[in-house]
Amino acid sequence: MLGFIISFIFVLVAILVLRQDWDHITGDAPPQSTVPPARLIIKEELSLYSGEEDSKGLYLAILGQVFDVEKGMKHYGPGGGYHFFAGKDASLAFVTGDFTDTGLTDDVSSLSPAQVVSLYDWLAFYHKDYKPVGRLVGRFYSESGEPTEALLQVEAALEQGQRLNNQAQAEKQHLPACNSEWSAARGGRVWCSTKSGGVQRDWVGVPRKLFSPGSGRSRCVCVQNSSTLENPNIQEYEDCPSQADSCPVRE
Ligand code: HEM
Repeated sequence: MLGFIISFIFVLVAILVLRQDWDHITGDAPPQSTVPPARLIIKEELSLYSGEEDSKGLYLAILGQVFDVEKGMKHYGPGGGYHFFAGKDASLAFVTGDFTDTGLTDDVSSLSPAQVVSLYDWLAFYHKDYKPVGRLVGRFYSESGEPTEALLQVEAALEQGQRLNNQAQAEKQHLPACNSEWSAARGGRVWCSTKSGGVQRDWVGVPRKLFSPGSGRSRCVCVQNSSTLENPNIQEYEDCPSQADSCPVRE
């Protein structure tokens, strides 16, 4: 009989573990590291975890995920520099740095995709340094613990922000910024080398003005010759030979 019970428990545990993995494999679930435990916590309960003397502990929430931040008592406990985060979800303030009563809110609908990426960097930080304990019922999780429409919207903004970051990264590799210097005696100069704009490469390139559409402003980028003609926003520097890797700047 005991053998049967042990086998039954073993099979049950295996099913639970496999089910979680299957969600992962089929893409039905977000990456495991960002999935909060199933325990549901309501706002009123969370507020009891403020770290005060008679409180139940020290928790904070970000994007509806609740963390035990007891080991960060010096930051989040009474008298700590970030005590205002304790016992609530003040996701917006992680990005804006507005720690006033109106700034300490979980309404992040005003954030740009790039700002949502920074907010998720904070979430990753809490997963790395603190223990997740549950989901806060409210803006981001429903009463049954399911992601709300608001959370799905933030996740969509996250994806868009990550796409924009990847594009910017690819552009930085393709069109790295020039080196530049200015002296009172000689004026300004821009030039290209195998390392400029933080990009190490096996080509030098030539300086060109890259205009951002609509603004009329330009910045210097190094281009490999072949790409110059294809981009209407790229112009040569005046009084500088086409193939020169250094150009004077008069502005
Ligand atoms: C958007 C603005 C900011 C936010 C949301 C923010 C948030 C935080 C949080 C949550 C912590 C605790 C991290 C942990 O649990 O270990 C922290 C620590 C810290 N923050 Fe900020 N911070 C901001 C701006 C700044 C600025 C501008 C400075 C400096 C001028 C600063 C200096 C520090 C320092 C020195 C610590 C570590 C303190 C220690 O280890 O004792 N923070 N910050």
